[in-house]
Amino acid sequence: MNKLKTVYTCQNCGAESPKWIGRCPSCDQWNTYVEEIVASTSKSASPPLTSAGSPPLRLSEIADLHLDRLDTGIAEFNRVLGGGLVPGSLVLIGGEPGIGKSTLVLQLALSLKGKKILYASGEESLQQIKLRANRLKMESKGSWFLAETSLEMVMHTVEQEKPDILVVDSIQTMATDKIESSPGSVAQVRECTAVLLRHAKKYHMTVILIGHINKEGNLAGPKVLEHIVDTVIQFEGDNRHYFRVLRSTKNRFGSTAELGIFEMRQNGLVEVPNPSDHLLSGDGDPVSGTAIAATIEGVRPFLLEIQSLVSSAAYGMPQRSSTGFDLRRLNMLLAVLEKRAGFKLTSRDVFLNVAGGLRITDPATDLAVLVAILSSSLDLAVDHHTCFTGEAGLTGEVRAVSRIEQRIAEAARLGFRRMFIPRYNKGFDTSAYPLEIIRVARVEEVFRKLFGNK
Ligand code: TYD
Ligand code: MG
Repeated sequence: MNKLKTVYTCQNCGAESPKWIGRCPSCDQWNTYVEEIVASTSKSASPPLTSAGSPPLRLSEIADLHLDRLDTGIAEFNRVLGGGLVPGSLVLIGGEPGIGKSTLVLQLALSLKGKKILYASGEESLQQIKLRANRLKMESKGSWFLAETSLEMVMHTVEQEKPDILVVDSIQTMATDKIESSPGSVAQVRECTAVLLRHAKKYHMTVILIGHINKEGNLAGPKVLEHIVDTVIQFEGDNRHYFRVLRSTKNRFGSTAELGIFEMRQNGLVEVPNPSDHLLSGDGDPVSGTAIAATIEGVRPFLLEIQSLVSSAAYGMPQRSSTGFDLRRLNMLLAVLEKRAGFKLTSRDVFLNVAGGLRITDPATDLAVLVAILSSSLDLAVDHHTCFTGEAGLTGEVRAVSRIEQRIAEAARLGFRRMFIPRYNKGFDTSAYPLEIIRVARVEEVFRKLFGNK
């Protein structure tokens, strides 16, 4: 009879301890240790990948890896994967509930041609999947569906059907009999993933895992999982907005700089190949408080609108609130405005919003943020044909940005007439672009050129 062994496992990082502890010594989280029963045979449940005794090889003796990537039929998804799915690899897609993970993989399952796909759902019944497929108005003969939470049953089906792609929705609902812990616990998730990994390599099958995200925005529990899989993809966006962004945070077969942009519509996710076209509110009279930033997220340049509202603080402490832009950076920019450009905003509320519900991390957005705030504060509008790119330094200098030419080219493509860029971005021919380029060294210079000496 197997002797039962219990360990305490940190549900955040997977660290183990023989006794309960309040604070995890490896990830510093509190109250994350949960007792888990592990059958003493579980060690043998994960045999090594190579058989014992394989000799080491010289580089020249190792056969080249030919990546026959599978076209997913969704261009934005291919882009994030680095060109398509790699056979035998494990891809983890993480995201908050309701963001559209199941929709994305179902669309993938239904749009892949000539490949056999097994979609194992532990979250939804077959009827619910059918309902979603009807909503997507898609049909496919190459995909098979299974509502199952037992990993052994899923593996049994895999052995019989030998699919090219296995989708597991979600890894937190799967459980193996080998371990007594409840589904979703670190031990279960880790063991299930290890079994899936072995099958992926054995059958040369791509496995797509769906993982939930906890309230801190991490993949729930299994940090350990991120080490096992080949590719980690985050699906993010604001539930109330229609934009969804797919970005990879780890990719053994491609770069992590790529970004895929989708729009959630009534009948599923629609790719957005030219995000700028959707992110600019366009014509109409210019209103104060908006400025257009020429940003680059991933490797794609796009222009988007930054909106700001500055108003008198009604009660005591003024509020600073920001959606889609780092709040600490906003505070830093407000301090720069005050100290370097002499604008007093200490007794005023400042709200900032990035259009489309996108989250922007490109520091070159700073200049547009500063202009939007000032535009709202002075109640003076900036015309629609002007855009900005530049990082603001603490002394009020406008610092050089990366890939300036790509940004200018995108602004030119969209018909902008005027663009403020950092003076220190040198070494290219501005006359090659059909728009007026204004080089600036300091933020005050931008303000003077836009608003005069108000
Ligand atoms: P879902 O894919 O179930 O999200 P997840 O698997 O990440 O939890 O779907 C998320 C939301 O998308 C759901 O609230 C309904 C909405 N939705 C649409 O707007 N259009 C559609 O065509 C579909 C299928 C879903
Ligand atoms: Mg789902």
